Amino acid sequence: MPPKPISNFKSWEDRTISLVPSPSNFASDDEPVLEIWGQHPLSGFVPVSGAKNSALVILAGAILCPDDCRIRNVPYLADVDRMVQILTALGVKVRRNKDALEINASHVEHSKAPYELVSQLRASFFAIGPILARLGVARIPLPGGCAIGARPVDLHVRGLQAMGADIQIDHGMVNATTRRGRRLQGAKIYLDYPSVGATETLMMAATLAEGETVLENTAQEPEVVDLANFCRAMGAKIRGAGTNTITISGVPSLHSTDYSIIPDRIEAGTFLVAGAITRSEIVVGPVVPDHLTPLLAKLQAIGVQILPEGPNRLRALPKAEIYSATDVETLPYPGFPTDMQAQLMALLTLCEGDSVVSETVFENRLRHVAELNRMGADIRVKGNNALVRGVPFLSGAPVLATDLRASAALVLAGLAARGKTTISGLHHLDRGYEKLEQKLSQLGAKLKRVYPDGRVAETPMPVVSKS
Ligand code: EPZ
Repeated sequence: MPPKPISNFKSWEDRTISLVPSPSNFASDDEPVLEIWGQHPLSGFVPVSGAKNSALVILAGAILCPDDCRIRNVPYLADVDRMVQILTALGVKVRRNKDALEINASHVEHSKAPYELVSQLRASFFAIGPILARLGVARIPLPGGCAIGARPVDLHVRGLQAMGADIQIDHGMVNATTRRGRRLQGAKIYLDYPSVGATETLMMAATLAEGETVLENTAQEPEVVDLANFCRAMGAKIRGAGTNTITISGVPSLHSTDYSIIPDRIEAGTFLVAGAITRSEIVVGPVVPDHLTPLLAKLQAIGVQILPEGPNRLRALPKAEIYSATDVETLPYPGFPTDMQAQLMALLTLCEGDSVVSETVFENRLRHVAELNRMGADIRVKGNNALVRGVPFLSGAPVLATDLRASAALVLAGLAARGKTTISGLHHLDRGYEKLEQKLSQLGAKLKRVYPDGRVAETPMPVVSKS
């Protein structure tokens, strides 16, 4: 279960934060690094890609359909590629056609996803619900933890058991079967925590179950709503997505659809912070403004003005001469998103005063602190809370990315820092940001990806998703 936030702290102690990246985090010495020359103003418009956290679960949801599905606005990301490889290994046909993926799961045959692929992508666990609902049997490796936490799947498993699945976990494999080969059964399920993944797994499984399923205390993230809309486009009967109670009436089968994914609110938020931290005026879109409400509130508290620019774009411009510190606590949607915590912290390092950042969703999502401190930030950590004391400037330094959003935070810090920042561990960045260097360069940032020997490296374009 997510950690309980520390309700009070007597004093801020300096927790010895290793300034030497732990061995498990060393990037391989032939992996390229990202060099950023800071303090270049940005300007212009930056395009936002389709949402990674919609694409991954909707790709799994396509397994529910025994017919053709087209999913549009799918970003070119390493994680999307891995999910495509997993679907292919399960017998699903997938073809990239520009920004769309054309999928046919009529012959999904294997119930076992390959460990070597699953171990690289936790989101592959999303396949268990659809495969179990379609085939009555599923064997998916238990996803391990990751840099930001243990990431258990007990809520997924308990919910599927409530729907009549027999689940045995042994040797790291989750073996699930429906009883006597019947379909899953509708059930009333209360989630102990509004888990995004558990909500999505159980919602997908329930679309083909016998009877009605009521999920209570569900996640309300926009990507959950996106998945529900995708399933409804295939004929699923789902009500209440986006609230804390979702009701699904099972149907015998689903049908083909052509669906477009929502814009990535975390990528959009990352670019808005890029504008703020470089004190630039930029336009970001397409966005769904309502998906960004908690971030926009924080940016405005800091002193960044956000103005609507047409129906689906936002203009960010520095308003305050000196940015002000503000506190932030990550919470399930509609609270402040944990996926924007590291990026906002990068900005808070340059805001005058003390900001308290409380990470309540994941138990180990403050690993970017050590690296930001190497760049001259003044951040102290106690448990899952960080005290960020504003400093007048950051200084470029060699830093190591430890996870996807931490790497984005380091890029943002590098854009603002004096001098050159060199970021290693770029495989984290490539999981979740499509063409980040190109997009930032088009805004006027000075950055390039180079090998240790100085040769310029291309941003890797995922292979599987090439048209
Ligand atoms: C999704 O992860 C996102 N990933 C994450 O984005 C995001 O940070 C997270 O939701 C929260 O918004 C995808 O959608 C692919 P959770 P998920 O289940 O589903 C605990 C990024 O950077 N929990 O809502 O794994 C869990 O340990 C990634 O794009 C259980 O205890 O998140 C955590 O503390 C990172 N048991 C909390 O709930 C369970 O069975 C929230 O996890 C499931 C979760």
